[in-house]
Amino acid sequence: MPTSNAHPQLRIDIVSIFPDYLAPLELSLVGKAREAGQIDVRIHDLRDCTQDRHRTVDDTPYGGGPGMVMLPEPWGDALDSILGSDPSRTPVLVVPTPSGERFTQGHAAKWALGDWLIFACGRYEGIDSRVMEHFGERIHVAEVSLGDYVLAGGEVAALAVTEAVVRLLPGVLGNSESVVDDSFAPGRMAHLVEGPVYTKPPLWRGLEVPEVLLSG
Ligand code: ADE
Repeated sequence: MPTSNAHPQLRIDIVSIFPDYLAPLELSLVGKAREAGQIDVRIHDLRDCTQDRHRTVDDTPYGGGPGMVMLPEPWGDALDSILGSDPSRTPVLVVPTPSGERFTQGHAAKWALGDWLIFACGRYEGIDSRVMEHFGERIHVAEVSLGDYVLAGGEVAALAVTEAVVRLLPGVLGNSESVVDDSFAPGRMAHLVEGPVYTKPPLWRGLEVPEVLLSG
């Protein structure tokens, strides 16, 4: 379905071994944007790109160490197939990882201007590095971190990044809400974040709404 303005529809592909983890993308703002045809979200199970009976996606790391590393072959097949499905778009491959650069409002603003995001959600100790090296020679690859903590996988980060991007698309927020223009200071949040907010009643459990807000 075409959107009501000149902005191209944003396509979002997410590859994960837990596709059900992405179910919240059917809800709320992102869910409504999907229904309105403003975004085209496609969720893929990495295990569909395995070749063995056990649908194996990981193996032990070369050089030793704890945990498992995700195999390059299923990732290569999954991403080849997604990339091959639309040669007309310009994809960014987003790889959530705690070792990536910090994801900011600046990334969200830039990606909201593009037409295709592909998320590679790793689990365990991460994805074999050659996957990022290989696809980095074909398309833009962004390894991003939500913050200085370690999640169990990239899915929660993919949800967060998707919501941050989609709310910036023209026509996604209602008239009562609006996107503050952050183009003049990417990465600086102070002008985007509201102070304390209040609504009715003016007195609640002995606490008053600041006088200055009641007159306006
Ligand atoms: N995967 C695991 N930890 C993460 C983090 N902090 N940010 C993004 N992706 C992650």
